[in-house]
Amino acid sequence: MLRTHTCGELTIKDAGKKVTLCGWLQRSRDLGGMTFTDIRDRYGITQLVFNMDSNAALCEQARKLGREFVISVSGIVAERSNKNAKMVTGDIEINVDQLEVLNTSLLPPFTIEENTDGGDEIRMKYRYLDIRRNPVKESLLLRAKVAAETRNYLYNENFCEIETPVLIKSTPEGARDFVVPSRMNQGEFYALPQSPQTFKQLLMVAGMDRYYQIVKCFRDEDLRADRQPEFTQIDCEMSFVEQEDILNTFEGLTKHLFKNVKGVDIGELPRMSFADAMTYYGNDKPDIRFEMKLRSLTPDPSPKERGENLVSGKNFKIFDDAELVVAICARGCAEYTRKQLDELTEWVKRPQLGMTGLIYSRWNSDGTYKSSVDKFYSAEDQQKWFEHCGGQQGDLILILAGEKNKTRKAMSELRLEMGNRLGLRKAGEYKALWVLDFPLLEYSDEQKRWFAMHHPFTSPKPEDIALLETDPGAVRANAYDLVINGTEIGGGSIRIHNKDLQKKMFSVLGFTDEDAQNQFGFLMNAFEYGAPPHGGIAFGFDRLCAMFGGSDSIRDYIAFPKNNAGRDVMIDSPSKISEEQLKELGIKLNEK
Ligand code: AMO
Repeated sequence: MLRTHTCGELTIKDAGKKVTLCGWLQRSRDLGGMTFTDIRDRYGITQLVFNMDSNAALCEQARKLGREFVISVSGIVAERSNKNAKMVTGDIEINVDQLEVLNTSLLPPFTIEENTDGGDEIRMKYRYLDIRRNPVKESLLLRAKVAAETRNYLYNENFCEIETPVLIKSTPEGARDFVVPSRMNQGEFYALPQSPQTFKQLLMVAGMDRYYQIVKCFRDEDLRADRQPEFTQIDCEMSFVEQEDILNTFEGLTKHLFKNVKGVDIGELPRMSFADAMTYYGNDKPDIRFEMKLRSLTPDPSPKERGENLVSGKNFKIFDDAELVVAICARGCAEYTRKQLDELTEWVKRPQLGMTGLIYSRWNSDGTYKSSVDKFYSAEDQQKWFEHCGGQQGDLILILAGEKNKTRKAMSELRLEMGNRLGLRKAGEYKALWVLDFPLLEYSDEQKRWFAMHHPFTSPKPEDIALLETDPGAVRANAYDLVINGTEIGGGSIRIHNKDLQKKMFSVLGFTDEDAQNQFGFLMNAFEYGAPPHGGIAFGFDRLCAMFGGSDSIRDYIAFPKNNAGRDVMIDSPSKISEEQLKELGIKLNEK
């Protein structure tokens, strides 16, 4: 070893020891007869002292070092006179008597500090320098800890880690594939896996019983803060199980990770049906850190809601014409000013939500009601709205009206926005839940056909199978999502393990027998050789890490991420390839 200790471990207990440290020069301060230099490595920062009186030549040498030079120093650990309680090594410094420059460095293009002056793009280009910064480094260490704890838990539960291939076959369902041309089979392409779904099912047919893999997946889709074109899943599959077994096993993993990574006991995970999530939260990944449930003022089609119409028959056309009139109640917000309400109205009118307006009703502290529709609705009418929403004196009701799906989505966003404004989405508070009973299929008006909501291998609920013929939209899936603080962290299902049912599913999805055989023949054939009942789940590993780190963006938890245009600006990829490579692959590019 070139060093005796790291830069993050020496304390007052080590005073008097002769040590050698290696690392990068963080900064230097010359104070007359002394030079103080901070040396940094992955483990921390230690203060070095060069003394002009005891060794002038060494001190002069130290003063010539630039930021980010790689150095090795030897010296004696001494107690500091000016202690820094914020640092582990803050009580000591090293009186250096030997210095070696292991490598020089150009001046970095941004400061390597906790808070840097570098913008996103430049930090991505010099990612290896950005990773030297504490917050990025800590994110990667957190990721490593989550991976290690995941492996601990799953290994102890008898899961076997198995690698599946990365060069596979393109399939038409799901997102777009990334494809790789084959030199040896010209005109043919591999695809990179969107997930190892079919392979893990084949491993169940193979009798491996419990599989997992922390695995790269690739999806050519538009990027967002929580999406990267290549991302990582904790991918799992189990044989001879029902939904309940999978929920229990992976609730166990979730609890284990919270406990061992965050030191938090998250308790039992509540369960909510997809239908309830849509009715009360307006989306299938509810943030249940706060209530503020959506309440429909028009009769809701969902069995639990229905109820009376609390807005019709008062000649207010916007409500009368609306497919859905939905409200939320913001606690203690009756005092909201005109300006605040106008601001919220503009917020729901943004093109992303596209609502035409926002209606409010206040239950003032003096007991009166004031709304933007007082002309049409009396105090008694508004009182009923408050009752229906569980509102109290001092609260504010916000109402949106319009086409069902659009209005529900907008209200779901407004709820989250109000949650932010009222400080109800607290960082450091974690609320996880299972969302269950997803519909098996969703209809695309554009393509005039049914699509699998999860993927084509998901099993319908046995009691709903007959509906596949008559009312495909009503068939519920044996599928589940793990949602934490409003983010979909994982999803999975019990699979179809019967060839005929799988065939039927492909036919409902509009595949001809021939297409199904071409695309998925390997799986259906395998089902002829004793496929066990099986099911599984995949966690979005990057999302999980970002959630533990308290961030909405997964980028900082990936060592070398892509930018918003899907580019790696550090290695400049994607890039053109040579004529020769193209020729070898038998690819002709269309000249623009
Ligand atoms: P699904 O498509 O729901 O299921 O993916 C599982 C989880 O992966 C994460 N995820 C992503 N994370 C970052 N960037 C992306 N582009 C991205 N896409 C998805 C999400 C999601 O919950 N084979 C099935 C799993 C199964 O059925 O077992 C699958 O891939 O957190």
